[in-house]
Amino acid sequence: MRYIERKNSVVYKFTGPTPPPIDLPAGYGWSRISHECLDKFFAPKMQDWRLKTYRKLLDKGHIGFLIHDQVEWAAVQWLSTPESPGPDHLPTRISQGKFWCFNEHTREEHRRLGLWRALKSIGVRYIRSTSDCQGMTIYSDTGVENLASRKAHQNFGFEPAGTIDRLTIVIPKVTALNWGAWAQEQVHPPR
Ligand SMILES: CC(C)(COP(=O)(O)OP(=O)(O)OC[C@H]1O[C@@H](n2cnc3c(N)ncnc32)[C@H](O)[C@@H]1OP(=O)(O)O)[C@@H](O)C(=O)NCCC(=O)NCCS
Repeated sequence: MRYIERKNSVVYKFTGPTPPPIDLPAGYGWSRISHECLDKFFAPKMQDWRLKTYRKLLDKGHIGFLIHDQVEWAAVQWLSTPESPGPDHLPTRISQGKFWCFNEHTREEHRRLGLWRALKSIGVRYIRSTSDCQGMTIYSDTGVENLASRKAHQNFGFEPAGTIDRLTIVIPKVTALNWGAWAQEQVHPPR
């Protein structure tokens, strides 16, 4: 684990309408993450940091969605909401009060099957179906160097929304402290 991290991220925003539902590849299903869902897909590996981390995310009021096959989880994505705290990796004043996508991962053996795109559609449809939040902007960020994620966001319909330069200090088992600035007009470096 790295205790001090300096990171440049590109930020994206989605302001579009409800995207169409996306059919999952054969053999996959999806669930909104609950404690029962975590027990089913993560508890057998009690050492898995994801189980601990995701339990905490649920308890903080974040919303998560999972794609799985018959046996194991395949892809995961989380959303912070205007009522929950922002994602742990961002300074509070940047992300609080917004929908912000975070903690997105597709396991290697399930990549390039459209699972990120499908989960993103599920999350955006969830937000757009909530009457108070239909028109709200949805934010996301990823590392400047993460070309796969950048391409995925842009192909989905996210637009560039500046960059964040941040410093994170992790105090193990206690907290993570973040400092950073969001340059909202900064053009993204070329991919
Ligand atoms: C980035 C990541 C989430 C993509 O997940 P995925 O389920 O494989 O993505 P999808 O199959 O839905 O692909 C969506 C689009 O992303 C782009 N993309 C995905 N992987 C890519 C790669 N390796 N290279 C280039 N483009 C890629 C493509 O445009 C793709 O659409 P296409 O296949 O129709 O061309 C996955 O590679 C991953 O988990 N990486 C490690 C963790 C990470 O980077 N998380 C994102 C942090 S925000």
